[in-house]
Amino acid sequence: MKKHLLSINDLTAGDALEILNTASELAKISDGPMKKLPTLRGRTVVNLFFEDSTRTRISFESAAKRLSADVINFSAKGSSVSKGESLKDTAQTLQAMGADAVVIRHGASGAAQRLADSGWISASVINAGDGTHEHPTQALLDSYTIRSKFPEFRESFDGLKVGIVGDILHSRVARSNVLLLTKLGAHVTLIAPPTLIPVGVTDWKVDVSYDLDSIINKVDVLMVLRVQSERMADSFFPSEREYSRGYGLDLARLNSLKESAIVMHPGPMNRGLEISAESADSHKSVVLAQVSNGVLVRMAVLYQLLGGAALAGEVSA
Ligand code: CP
Repeated sequence: MKKHLLSINDLTAGDALEILNTASELAKISDGPMKKLPTLRGRTVVNLFFEDSTRTRISFESAAKRLSADVINFSAKGSSVSKGESLKDTAQTLQAMGADAVVIRHGASGAAQRLADSGWISASVINAGDGTHEHPTQALLDSYTIRSKFPEFRESFDGLKVGIVGDILHSRVARSNVLLLTKLGAHVTLIAPPTLIPVGVTDWKVDVSYDLDSIINKVDVLMVLRVQSERMADSFFPSEREYSRGYGLDLARLNSLKESAIVMHPGPMNRGLEISAESADSHKSVVLAQVSNGVLVRMAVLYQLLGGAALAGEVSA
């Protein structure tokens, strides 16, 4: 695996499967008596968050602590960034504190790449979401969750049908998931109003539909995306009511999914807009499993990037 994880394009299918398999091993260990592993003792992981986060920030912190790393949490709010300190000076300050890995979330697409290419720091850089570009660990935890629900697709997603519905245009989760799901062999259909489909989608290895009702009973996985109002300067649909009517997962649509199908959402959810409360809380929903699996997958990523000791040795240590 490369030094940094900036994009799913940094991973081969084999690299991705290795991360998912490592997460499965870590899940087995976590079920045993030893909850905390000494693997990254003496290492420092910095969480550098310039944008809000609940799940990603907390799960990276939990993952690093479960591997015995020291953790520094940095949030732009309340830091010297609000006094005008640059990314370079912030990064170099963290480097001086001895960071081995920097987990960065930033509102600008390409910020993680900039940090990795800059030479300002020697640490591994992990992209925890950059603008509308990518969120690779979200895609990895989503694939881990799919594998855990469909063991028959453990080695490959060949034959798996995934629908991704919602605000594709602004979604880094959609971009990373399209790259990873198709790399692993899944067939992906993007479903959204034409205004929320990116212009360059013809270059993606996906089908596109504007009609959720014609697709819904064909998919094994329905991934519902948040409507990202905070990134919308213009109006992308006539009203929230019309959006929900066309693209929201309500009870009627939930009932038209295959019996075996699962519903995913990366969170945070806009209940009543892209997903109804009944759908979010239904037995088909794996939203909370996605959150739990996020810790295991981020442990696996830190473990792979920072070169932890062999897991077998850890268990017997
Ligand atoms: N899925 C996700 O990235 O959630 P947070 O914004 O809460 O980290």
